[in-house]
Amino acid sequence: MRLGKFGLVGLMVCTGSFANAGQVESQDVKMINLAHQSGCVTCHAISGAGKGPNGLKPIGPAWQDVARKYGRDPDAKAALVTTVLHGSSPYQSHWKGEVSGVAMPPNSVVLNEAQANELVDWILHLAD
Ligand code: HEC
Repeated sequence: MRLGKFGLVGLMVCTGSFANAGQVESQDVKMINLAHQSGCVTCHAISGAGKGPNGLKPIGPAWQDVARKYGRDPDAKAALVTTVLHGSSPYQSHWKGEVSGVAMPPNSVVLNEAQANELVDWILHLAD
């Protein structure tokens, strides 16, 4: 099963606070598909296991680490959506020394603002 590949089985266990597990699962599948289609998984793993889906060290931070860093900050989401759409600055890296990539390229060619919003919202809840 696909989800196991990303270590999401553990995540599913942790999302017990949701009323309908079926809905959670379908949102996970939808967001994982969107991340694949948008090329995010080339550089990001979902869990902090240390390796990307291709077995190599991830270029960007694992998304559970992103959730741990910003999940409690109410202002983070808008800034992250902007970063996802327009890219990050190599001069103001938020993950310097923690990840092998220096900056994220703009992703607005592969996903629109609504999709970026939905994806970031999902990412920010991965540490729940
Ligand atoms: C070419 C590699 C690459 C791709 C493709 C990529 N990212 Fe990133 N991403 C990075 C790097 C490198 C960073 C760390 C940037 C930094 O240090 O500030 C990052 C950081 C992030 C962050 C945290 C930003 C911050 O300010 O801390 C989020 C959220 C994120 N990426 C989401 C995505 C999403 C969603 C996609 C797909 C639409 C995506 N990334 C595609 C390389 C990538």
